[in-house]
Amino acid sequence: MKDVITIKDREFELFIEQEVIEQGIRRIASQINADLEGKNPLFLAVLNGAFMFAGELMKEVTIPSEITFVRLASYHGTTAADDVKEVLGLNEGIEGRCVVIVEDIVDSGNTMVSLLEQMKVHRPKEVKIATLLFKPAALRQKLHLDYVALEIPNDFIVGYGLDYDGYGRNLKDIYKVK
Ligand code: IMP
Ligand code: MG
Repeated sequence: MKDVITIKDREFELFIEQEVIEQGIRRIASQINADLEGKNPLFLAVLNGAFMFAGELMKEVTIPSEITFVRLASYHGTTAADDVKEVLGLNEGIEGRCVVIVEDIVDSGNTMVSLLEQMKVHRPKEVKIATLLFKPAALRQKLHLDYVALEIPNDFIVGYGLDYDGYGRNLKDIYKVK
């Protein structure tokens, strides 16, 4: 793999290699296998960013489980504070289930809080959060993250599902902006 890449107008440098990422994923998969045994969890992966993480995580989950996908649509309210994201595709099969949200990254935490709020209506039995990446220094919400594969500093990153303006999601390693 290359150490420095260019996406559009920005340079990025190699930050976390695939093997390290996947070690982190295997570690949380083992925790999930132990914690959620007998609960038939429903994994709810958030598109687009979580597609690669979800694929790798599911390969390591050995307990009976299902997976489904949602996506978030920005809708623009009248003030900046209203600029939350509506969850699309969150309809069937959540009531009474143990749901594991599968996200690419928790940054400010605003997206996750909004998702949790919108899920309540569908009455899940319990909700766990699994995230590939977490930026503790950027968190602005009170949030309990059950499964974190990797903690990172407050840098902008791409790869392994995460994008810069739509590009870079297919990179198998994670890069950070130079
Ligand atoms: P939050 O609502 O601030 O927690 O941001 C969550 C969303 O912002 C994620 O689902 C990503 O789509 C995006 N995001 C946050 N940090 C990064 C980053 O470093 N690279 C790419 N996308 C990011
Ligand atoms: Mg995302």
